[in-house]
Amino acid sequence: MLEQALNFLKILDPSLENDYSNRKLRFKGERFEIFLAKPWDLPLYVEERVADLGIVGRDIIIEQERKVVSLIKLPFGYCKMVLAGFPDDKNLEEVKIASKYVNITSKYLTNRWNKIKIIKLNGSVELGPILNISDYIVDLVETGRTLKENGLVVKEILFESSACLIANISSYVWKRKEILDILKEVEKTYENN
Ligand code: PRP
Repeated sequence: MLEQALNFLKILDPSLENDYSNRKLRFKGERFEIFLAKPWDLPLYVEERVADLGIVGRDIIIEQERKVVSLIKLPFGYCKMVLAGFPDDKNLEEVKIASKYVNITSKYLTNRWNKIKIIKLNGSVELGPILNISDYIVDLVETGRTLKENGLVVKEILFESSACLIANISSYVWKRKEILDILKEVEKTYENN
């Protein structure tokens, strides 16, 4: 989502640089100072008020449940969190599910079977069923290509995700006017498109 997030920020602060290929992780425009954090670390930076605002996927907000304010959904980074597996379901005493999203898996699927075992993987979770380490996976699907190429199908959509603008709780109080102004601009921008 980096490119889309930066294009979005440039609408709000046209002074921001155009070229992000220099690997700089911190840079300033006239209105915003930007940090390029990894998605899984971003809510922490916002919770700790290293940044007043953050742009991150709804999947990570739901997974981490950090103390931040979710302000508005943004129209990019669309994907779905799904339960997927091979087309044929087996009757299993214990169902094994591989995922990066262990909290979401537990929250959405614990009561689905008598016994589930969640296996935490850090990426390429489609390998779980292929290498027989799990029966299913819980993962994001965007185009569906990765599932298809690996012989897997969607069993259930758990929720839809997109980029979200989040705020630090104190910033939302102390910089309320600035933040509400930004929100108004965002709404206006996307209303007209
Ligand atoms: C994500 C996700 C799927 C894939 C889905 O992986 O975890 O593997 O993209 O996209 P698709 O539906 O368009 O094929 P990512 O590329 O972030 O790498 P990862 O598997 O290492 O997390």
